[in-house]
Amino acid sequence: MPTPQRGILPVASTHAIFLTLRRRLGRRGDPALRSLLGQIPERIETLAAGNKEAGISAVLAIGSDCWAEIFESGRPALLRPFPRIAGAIHPAPATDGDLLLHIRGERYDLIFEFADHLAVQLGDWFEVVESVNGFRYRDKRDLTGFVDGTENPEGDEDRTAAAVVGEEDAEWAGGSYLHVQRYVHRLEQWTKLPVKQQEAIMGRTKAHNEEMDDEHKPRTAHIARVVIEENGEELEMLRHSLPYGSPAGDRGLYFASYARTPDIFEKMLTRMVAPTFDGRVDHMLNYTRAVSGVAFFAPSREKLASLAG
Ligand code: HEM
Repeated sequence: MPTPQRGILPVASTHAIFLTLRRRLGRRGDPALRSLLGQIPERIETLAAGNKEAGISAVLAIGSDCWAEIFESGRPALLRPFPRIAGAIHPAPATDGDLLLHIRGERYDLIFEFADHLAVQLGDWFEVVESVNGFRYRDKRDLTGFVDGTENPEGDEDRTAAAVVGEEDAEWAGGSYLHVQRYVHRLEQWTKLPVKQQEAIMGRTKAHNEEMDDEHKPRTAHIARVVIEENGEELEMLRHSLPYGSPAGDRGLYFASYARTPDIFEKMLTRMVAPTFDGRVDHMLNYTRAVSGVAFFAPSREKLASLAG
């Protein structure tokens, strides 16, 4: 079985950079670009091996529009652009992005240096759309004060089953469908809400991070929207979201999910933003709003390395 890129399965890190790039007008992929991208897995291995305490890992993912310029033959079966959701009453914009570097670890200096060098090296073909620095906040909380990531699948086996393509698309096995969205929180309004109301909006308790029972959890609670059962099984994804921001600017959550199929993110987001399923939407979205949304595929390490020729 091909190996997923190093940044997908490990548990959350303290720091991450999410670097989104888009093709420069008139520039097409060429052998020099493919060679540069193909060297990324090995460069990450070298950086990680030389700084073991830093737990460095990374993922390079490619968007639907630019796929064919990078991989000249073949394409992941379900790779498609970020969804436009019919009936959405909360914004879920689809924005620009052809490549995404998700690099993470315990040392911000090292991940910064890697992302910065790569952005310069890719500069002939790609320009940076945005670079977001995610950080761990307290005990893995979002800036709303709620612990985020609790119900992620645990252990390599379950995380692989949720996040990594298998035999259903044998050529691209070991890859993963990545969705990112930058959310800007309305923290001033949020912090004015009594904790009980915040808990009803999230569906979990704040201090102790316990799930509310079904009797008390409103159908508009965030986790009531995103927990979807099909054929007796809950749909699973692997989230690597992190808070970001500065006191002078936007503050919020950089959402990132890896899944075996893009259907999972699309179904969950639909139940958050559009009242098409049961007439309800996610009330968390009265306090936060997505300002970006891009979909990618992160090929296996072997497939990415094969670009180096
Ligand atoms: C759970 C926050 C966006 C999918 C949670 C939890 C929090 C949270 C606090 C509960 C703890 C946990 O299990 O992680 C947020 C915030 C978001 C956001 C602040 C954006 C501002 C999204 C989006 C999706 C999503 C866009 C998918 C489209 C999930 C899933 C769970 C979850 C699958 C686990 C539910 C369970 O199994 O109980 N989120 N989330 N979240 N969220 Fe979000």
